[in-house]
Amino acid sequence: MTSAAVMPRAYRNLINGEWVEASTGRFFENRNPANADELIGMFPASAEDDVNQAVEAAQAAYEKWRLVPAPKRAEILFRAAQLLVLRKEDLARAMTQEMGKILTETRGDVQEAIDMTYYMAGEGRRLFGQTTPSELPNKFAMSVRQPVGVCGLITPWNFPMAIPSWKMMPALVCGNTVVLKPPADAPLSSLLLVQILAEAGLPPGVVNIVFGPGSAVGTPLAKHPGVPVVSFTGSTTVGRFIAEACAPKFKHCSLEMGGKNIILVMDDANLDLAVDGAIWGGFGTTGQRCTAASRVAVHKRVYKEFVERFVDRAKSLKVGDGLNSATEMGPCINKAQLEKVAEYVAIGTDEGAKLLTGGHRLADGAYAKGWFFEPTIFGDCSPRMRVAQEEIFGPVVSVIPMENLEEAVDIANGVPYGLSASIYTRDVNKAFAAARDLFTGIVYVNAPTIGAEIHLPFGGTKQTGNGHREAAIAAIDFYTEWKTIYIDYSDRLQRAQIDTSSFGTFGG
Ligand code: UN1
Repeated sequence: MTSAAVMPRAYRNLINGEWVEASTGRFFENRNPANADELIGMFPASAEDDVNQAVEAAQAAYEKWRLVPAPKRAEILFRAAQLLVLRKEDLARAMTQEMGKILTETRGDVQEAIDMTYYMAGEGRRLFGQTTPSELPNKFAMSVRQPVGVCGLITPWNFPMAIPSWKMMPALVCGNTVVLKPPADAPLSSLLLVQILAEAGLPPGVVNIVFGPGSAVGTPLAKHPGVPVVSFTGSTTVGRFIAEACAPKFKHCSLEMGGKNIILVMDDANLDLAVDGAIWGGFGTTGQRCTAASRVAVHKRVYKEFVERFVDRAKSLKVGDGLNSATEMGPCINKAQLEKVAEYVAIGTDEGAKLLTGGHRLADGAYAKGWFFEPTIFGDCSPRMRVAQEEIFGPVVSVIPMENLEEAVDIANGVPYGLSASIYTRDVNKAFAAARDLFTGIVYVNAPTIGAEIHLPFGGTKQTGNGHREAAIAAIDFYTEWKTIYIDYSDRLQRAQIDTSSFGTFGG
């Protein structure tokens, strides 16, 4: 099957290699956020019973999958990556229809899944451990990675193929099995990705997918005693709840949560470049990225000029249906998100931020059936205002004036989150000092806060995460446990730390 177009409209869960209905017999709808009249499909409204079945299937599959040599596991991922390449355009279109971001960006989302799948396929022939000398003679010491078991993966709607691939591909290449719970607002992309993995030869039960609400599917999955690994990307509120669900069993728990990322524009910056970056970072994906540049702090000497250009560019952005190639910014994901954005516009106005452009829902003509909002900029913000502190997850950017690098770094670090930060400057000293002092998981110099590549660690400090990183080898660390192996071939009792005078054949 090559696209959503040939799939049945009522989709099913995948459990143990079979497409099955939810135990509830109920479905939920997925609609196009650019046109609520367009029904993308009906997805199973699953419950705890379905989770239990999926976990059982994944547990049974694990006993075999963990013993498949990693290079062989990787070959299946490699074939999946090839299928993703072949179907990239169809997958991108299906994604734009289900969650609204523009085609250029959904192509990028699929490309990120391709990159991650190839990268992790390559890891099948590495998964390096260490060999190291023992302190005792005739003894060998090494460390190897071992898989952990069933991984419960809970993913968001804003990167509906990239983020499941960040979690699934490292989990699988390491020998774990998976139960994936996709987001209610973008379930189709996950289904298409899992379908490709099955087509590439993944045995039944190795990846299972259970659709449904967080409370009915995500919670039992995170709490299930047969699921030792839980990885979640989403809001800080839900992340805290997941951490609590994982704590009693000390599960591996990786959380990627909110952000209030910032671009710092110094007085020596290339302003054209900084404006380009602020537009792309602030309004790309309609501001609905954890890495979105929702704050820009600008040096007072260039503040006026920067703001004028930034506002002009924001005003000229073409908002619309992401399938239209002229569109530069798509809709918000749903009505609730649109209302949240409108609420923050009211909050910002009330607390004295200056509304420079935008601030309204677009609802006339072609916009009538979608969740469109104008690109919105607040100026003259103080760093403590709520619009400069809280994650909005929409097309709203707060601009804050500042006077020097020290103040800029204080503003940047003065939020509860720590995902991504950026500085525009031509002064190498300022660039390095900022890279050192910004307490975030990701720093960019002369580039916006978005655009992470899959072979480097992704994640953040403070309330953005819980110390883990996704992507890169950091993901391999999360989806494995180290096992240290000592092999004593001396044929006698040797006591580490005790037999300190032993020097092999020279020893006493
Ligand atoms: C997210 O911000 O929600 O770095 C994920 C980026 C993308 C991934 C973003 N590669 O912008």
